[in-house]
Amino acid sequence: MNLQTLEEDVKALAEEGVRQARAADCAEAVERVRVALLGRKSALTSRMKELGALPAADKPRAGAILNAARKALEDAIAAREAELTAQAMGHALQTEIFDMTLPGRPMGQGRYHPIGMVLDELIEIFTGLGFAVEEGPEVETDAYNFQMLNFPDEHPARDMQDTFYVQNGARLLRTHTSPVQIHAMLRRAPPLSIIAPGRVFRCDSDVTHSPVFHQVEGFHVDRNVNFGHLKGTLELFVHRLYGPKTKIRLRPSFFPFTEPSAEVDVSCMFCGGAGCRVCKNSGWLEILGAGMIDPNVLKSVNLDPERWTGFAFGCGIERIAMLKYGIDDIRLLFENDPRFLERF
Ligand code: DAH
Repeated sequence: MNLQTLEEDVKALAEEGVRQARAADCAEAVERVRVALLGRKSALTSRMKELGALPAADKPRAGAILNAARKALEDAIAAREAELTAQAMGHALQTEIFDMTLPGRPMGQGRYHPIGMVLDELIEIFTGLGFAVEEGPEVETDAYNFQMLNFPDEHPARDMQDTFYVQNGARLLRTHTSPVQIHAMLRRAPPLSIIAPGRVFRCDSDVTHSPVFHQVEGFHVDRNVNFGHLKGTLELFVHRLYGPKTKIRLRPSFFPFTEPSAEVDVSCMFCGGAGCRVCKNSGWLEILGAGMIDPNVLKSVNLDPERWTGFAFGCGIERIAMLKYGIDDIRLLFENDPRFLERF
């Protein structure tokens, strides 16, 4: 083949190729054209392979012709590719319309629940005094919840706590955290200093009572523990919780598992003791029950009351949280309404 014919053939090839490239109507079609025009089996590639057989004098010119054709095809393909990409972008911009003025979705920030905050604070205060944290089961037996805590059968004090029974009365949902005293004293020998936070259950519901609520039980058993230790511990506790100006007052009371027993009041943190709506003008607010562990309780866990004595106390977390944050309806603490929780 002479150079003249080669040049004409290749020119025709290139023109046809460029036409095909321009006609490709999508990315896949462009790719097919590329393979057909420039791939190993294309006419152009065969021509290139034939170069070696040409007379040496013709090679430079023939090479230049083929390279020019190759370049023309590559350029046409790249141009068509760019055109199609721009078209697709233009189409997307026309049809996928974003309204930049729409407000974004709020990303709410998580917060601690007031119950959790008070629990953490109590744990912090008591662990600072050397108490260890221990938990007990929420489903209890009558023995742990009542009997071993010196509530005899038919004792009227059982009616103080409306009990949820389960498994046909074989088990109950603990009505207080006091049974953790029993678990702990059966497990380990004194000296013991333990606080037991947890959920408790009572068949009761109104603005100040919830069927599920939280208590922290605390107790300390050692030799020669006396009422002064109890009072000192509680005083320290309320000073840390409500500030050093808070006063405490102990009123004689009754609990089956303590003797003597006391109800513990703190001076009202809203009026400083002057009298207000929250403390019903008394200047005092009741926050916990306490006492010296009854000898019968120690006996029920095989401790000799002549050798060991102890104090115990129990307080409701919801009540402490309500007083601390000025919340007047206990149900707010359980509804988990974000508008309420966001205040903390
Ligand atoms: N368990 C009592 C209750 O739920 C609270 C209590 C009172 C616990 C006196 C004590 C205590 O440990 O000494 O009402």
